[in-house]
Amino acid sequence: MKGIILAGGRGKRLYPLTKVVNKHLLHVHGKPMIHWALVKMKEARVTEAAIVINRGERAMFAEVLQPFEHLYPAYQFIEQPAPNGIAAALALAENFTNGEKFVMLLGDNLFEDDLTDYLAAYLQSERPAQILLSPTVNPKQFAIATLSAKNELVSLREKPDIKGKQWAVTGIYCFDATVFDHIAAITPSARNELEITDVLIRYLKRGELEWHRLKGWWIDAGTHQTYQLANEWLGGY
Ligand code: DAU
Repeated sequence: MKGIILAGGRGKRLYPLTKVVNKHLLHVHGKPMIHWALVKMKEARVTEAAIVINRGERAMFAEVLQPFEHLYPAYQFIEQPAPNGIAAALALAENFTNGEKFVMLLGDNLFEDDLTDYLAAYLQSERPAQILLSPTVNPKQFAIATLSAKNELVSLREKPDIKGKQWAVTGIYCFDATVFDHIAAITPSARNELEITDVLIRYLKRGELEWHRLKGWWIDAGTHQTYQLANEWLGGY
């Protein structure tokens, strides 16, 4: 299976740290943040990875990753001209996926679980898209999934203005080639980005979205507080 890691974007919530360094190259537990996504891919036997980065950052990423590359799948870089959304970044990898099913990781997400079983479940499923959910008490920071009493996924909302414990959509997605048609059909959100949640909602409406609960810990290291926490949690990993 192929894999895509998104490592572009502005990283504004980590300013000033990310004013000069891409967020995904900041160290987490002594290694660049993106190292952990690449290791997770290797662990799950992903054979080839594409890393989407901001335009002009290729040399910097190549230099930082080179010493550890024996721990990674084969990888290549794709440059994103402007940080115009997760779905826009994914669209750039269409040729790389070559019509095959793939896994996509957000490069600022860190997690405990081995992905092998989740990828196997996706390959066996007839549904073209799969997401993994994890509990959160900060629903305003994530896409939030609502489950029915029968544990059916009924709705998805990007960063809703609600409180309390909810199910967050983690940055671990599986798709087939239909995702590129859905991306072509969505329009930019209020923050002028092509949102992956709009793509997921299209699958959900068709009954084509599989979901599983991520069992181990999960963290989006995109804020000062969670970046700190990620260092602590990976320390015990
Ligand atoms: O962490 C999970 C959450 O990630 C999901 O629950 C949300 O649905 C999803 O929208 C996303 O929310 P964030 O606000 O945390 O996304 P962020 O802008 O931080 O971008 C996520 C990753 O994608 C990050 O590693 C940077 C990369 N990225 C982002 C943008 C906007 C790109 O590579 N290119 C981009 O244009």
